[in-house]
Amino acid sequence: MKCKVCRDRAVIDIRRHNAGFCKDHFLEHLTGQVAKTIKEFSMFESDDRLLVAVSGGKDSLALWDILLNLGYDATGFYLDLGIGAYSRASKDASVSFAEQRSAKLIVRSLAQEHGLTVPELSKLTGRVPCSGCGLNKRYEFNRAALEEGFDVLVTGHNLDDEVATLFGNVLHWNVDMLGRQAPVLEERALEESGTALVRKVKPLVRVAERETAAYALLRGIDYIVEECPLVEGNVQHRYKEAITLLEEASPGTKHQMYFGFLKKASHRFQQEPDGAEVVACSTCGAPTAVWDPARAAVCSFCKTKALALKRKSEGSVARPPRKRRTH
Ligand code: FES
Ligand code: ZN
Ligand code: ZN
Repeated sequence: MKCKVCRDRAVIDIRRHNAGFCKDHFLEHLTGQVAKTIKEFSMFESDDRLLVAVSGGKDSLALWDILLNLGYDATGFYLDLGIGAYSRASKDASVSFAEQRSAKLIVRSLAQEHGLTVPELSKLTGRVPCSGCGLNKRYEFNRAALEEGFDVLVTGHNLDDEVATLFGNVLHWNVDMLGRQAPVLEERALEESGTALVRKVKPLVRVAERETAAYALLRGIDYIVEECPLVEGNVQHRYKEAITLLEEASPGTKHQMYFGFLKKASHRFQQEPDGAEVVACSTCGAPTAVWDPARAAVCSFCKTKALALKRKSEGSVARPPRKRRTH
């Protein structure tokens, strides 16, 4: 196959674009796709301060690399989840990328910030690790962005991630989640508490996972290839596999599903659940949705943390999370 632009030998073919690219034109193409997404969804301006959530994996490091190449003021943020050797390796990958690019990286650890790791949280609450992991990441990314004065929080969710989430949300008709599944979530400030949910954006939504891997490889980015060892209960993985089968049979399916949803259906779902009001958490002050404003509102992060720390101090654990059937 030949490169669509220069007719040189192609190193990758992208079937949904019906095109092959040589190394240089692929890197240019991918960078262009990200720049187009940033512009199309008005994600941020050239003088905004960006905080990029990095995990040491291909998506977040490729995204950080592209944003730096495009000239944005992009600082990395790595959250150590305390998942043994996996967390150590992913932190090393993030730190060495930052050093190579002379970019600023903020590193925080759940154990230091809250006295809990993701595996502990799972054991103490009886929930699958990914649930505590997602909750902690959302909370800590937002807190770091606020405390360090960033305008926008940038995450490396790619097209495959978004389609898998959409597929799961439709499968279970999670209408609240469908209302919040967008490439941009606007800032939500609460004046009385002085806190906010920082503006969140996903500039990789037009890019497939296979393409970020190719980008990282061709750019010589040393990302962590291993999967998280706690991924077993993560049903999102199954959805990705199912959708990849459909994509292979009919290239463009993922793009069609996600962008079709944004164009034709997303406006039908509300960002706020029915009857909910957003108020400050009575423990930490972060914005949280409540249905009965007369009652003290405590956000899910504070509730989970309090429960886990209580069980930890009592030396008790919850029953282990139920194993999902694998067939
Ligand atoms: Fe879910 Fe690691 S905790 S994949
Ligand atoms: Zn070329
Ligand atoms: Zn709280």
